[in-house]
Amino acid sequence: MSYKSEHERSIQDPDSFWGEQAKRIHWEKPFKQVLDYSNPPFAKWFEGGLTNICFNAVDRHLADRADQIALVAVSTETNQEKTFTFKELYEEVNRMAAIYQANGVKKGDRVLIYMPMVAQACFAMLACVRIGAIHSVVFGGFASHSLASRIDDAQPKMIVTTEAGARGGKAVPYKPLLDEAINLATCKPEKVLIVNRGLIEFTTVAGRDLDYAAERQKHLHDLVPIEWVDATHTSYILYTSGTTGKPKGVQRDTGGYAVALASSMDHIFCAKPGETFFCTSDIGWVVGHGYIIYGPLIHGMATIMYEGTPLRPDAGIWWELVEKYKVSVMFSAPTAARVLKKQDPAFLTKYDLSSLRALFLAGEPLDEPTATWIHGAINKPIVDNYWQTETGWPTLAIQRGVEVMPHKFGSPGLPSFGFNMKLLDDANAEELGPNKKGVIVIEGPLPPGCMQTVWGDDKRFISTYWETIPGKTVYSTFDWGIKDDDGYFFILGRTDDVINVAGHRLGTREIEESISGHANVSEVAVVGIEDKLKGQAAIAFVIPKDASNTATLEAECMKTVDSTLGAIARPGRVYIVTALPKTRSGKIVRRALQAVAEGRDPGDISTMEDQTVLAQIRGVIEQRPPT
Ligand code: PRX
Repeated sequence: MSYKSEHERSIQDPDSFWGEQAKRIHWEKPFKQVLDYSNPPFAKWFEGGLTNICFNAVDRHLADRADQIALVAVSTETNQEKTFTFKELYEEVNRMAAIYQANGVKKGDRVLIYMPMVAQACFAMLACVRIGAIHSVVFGGFASHSLASRIDDAQPKMIVTTEAGARGGKAVPYKPLLDEAINLATCKPEKVLIVNRGLIEFTTVAGRDLDYAAERQKHLHDLVPIEWVDATHTSYILYTSGTTGKPKGVQRDTGGYAVALASSMDHIFCAKPGETFFCTSDIGWVVGHGYIIYGPLIHGMATIMYEGTPLRPDAGIWWELVEKYKVSVMFSAPTAARVLKKQDPAFLTKYDLSSLRALFLAGEPLDEPTATWIHGAINKPIVDNYWQTETGWPTLAIQRGVEVMPHKFGSPGLPSFGFNMKLLDDANAEELGPNKKGVIVIEGPLPPGCMQTVWGDDKRFISTYWETIPGKTVYSTFDWGIKDDDGYFFILGRTDDVINVAGHRLGTREIEESISGHANVSEVAVVGIEDKLKGQAAIAFVIPKDASNTATLEAECMKTVDSTLGAIARPGRVYIVTALPKTRSGKIVRRALQAVAEGRDPGDISTMEDQTVLAQIRGVIEQRPPT
């Protein structure tokens, strides 16, 4: 099979291509039509077909794999390690589904999951899709304000949580933050299900809070039938950051998602049923949804959920797991590789890595020194891949399962099947040829697995993604890129205000809104600047209301971000300044702030109202450069 001809077919004849791919999953009732694109840009895949993600991920494997390990839950924080066979996973998911049903959760209801990397989080997600409920997993690093805005948007009937997570040997409270978020939210969930790990003391609300262990006991032997849903039925909502302060609920379907994941396991990851997949992301991110939970399980593989850092008890821990569970495919982020790079490489070679075929890295640019180092350290192919919360699965990758293709440093590779990707000139929307920098766009229809819409806001889906290039209705990735003569794409950074800190996608506007909540902040601008370890770091510039009272303002702004958004969004520095660079129409020129903070030339500043402002800011930064 040639990649080029197959890719062309996937674009020219999606019905034939995806019709074939659909055979990878179980359909309780066949679909009537592969693609309905009668109402662009809304693509409906496999409409009329009845299926269920939980059935495909769990029940379907019982015939051949009942006693094969499906899930390995490892916590180097609590020193626990537990495996679940497909049969045991099936039983746990049924118990969880029974708890949902007993508490009134029905098809289409939302369940918000605010949990660390524990096995019950996997049960909670699978139990939702089993009964046709829609999950919305919120990353555990987010604090009460972020959580409250997601609760109000998703309006969950039930929230599943733990009392705490753990990081670096310390308990990280979850339940108290959730209680605060529910207080802040207008829409209150009827029930909160708490998995008590015994890490911290916490209070409960009578009539609302349920203890998971007690509930599980009540439903120990319950079996909950699969709810067959239309392929277009929403399986989940996952919030992500954009240009505005309000996170967008990326809404995903059922059938298209399952088919896309299944095909990616073969075409991109070259993973085989019966093997073990180890993805080090978190269930709160899109990579965790696709490649910790659904992709490997749909493919009949064991998956590892890991709670902890890559360095505890030592830098060999991930590789020890590779040896122990014979991991064949591993998936992580460049930041993790950069963290390991600071350690003794002997930790990586101490273990037998013969089962491992490749390490996939995604989420942020993979710099050449890191790629070369990790390749040298483990002596396995390093596969960069590019995608977004919105696309749901890799958009650009070396399609290793299709054809042997050369890797090119700095490039995640070529478009995956179904992705019709182009580079457009941002000035005149003209399509660009090779070696010209432009905005990476995708021509509709988006392939299976991509977002259906923004939850509850079709207009926002259109205006945010499809109307940014004047005169062309194309999906904008908001990434700059370049394509070489062989069609390989290179990613050159975001066109909007989204930053990427240690592979975590954050909106600078959200951080600005949080800081402006401080009583002594008059104006604030946040930009992302280059960081050797995390890829990017947020830094803030604040104009105080009372300039005579700023001794503790930096620390207070950081605290405000910690308590509203979460420590992951905390800026590395908060510079107190007297003015911000603005255009004559009053817009903050973030591009210039970023350049100055990175020690670069700010470029054309002729549109700026007061050109001396940048020199002042440069002075402030020079006194205390970002670390
Ligand atoms: O800017 C691109 C960057 O991360 C953004 C998407 O982040 P998120 O929605 O969290 O999804 C991550 C899924 C892997 C993109 O718009 N990005 C992602 N992968 C790469 C990347 N930048 C460079 N190289 C990559 N491989």
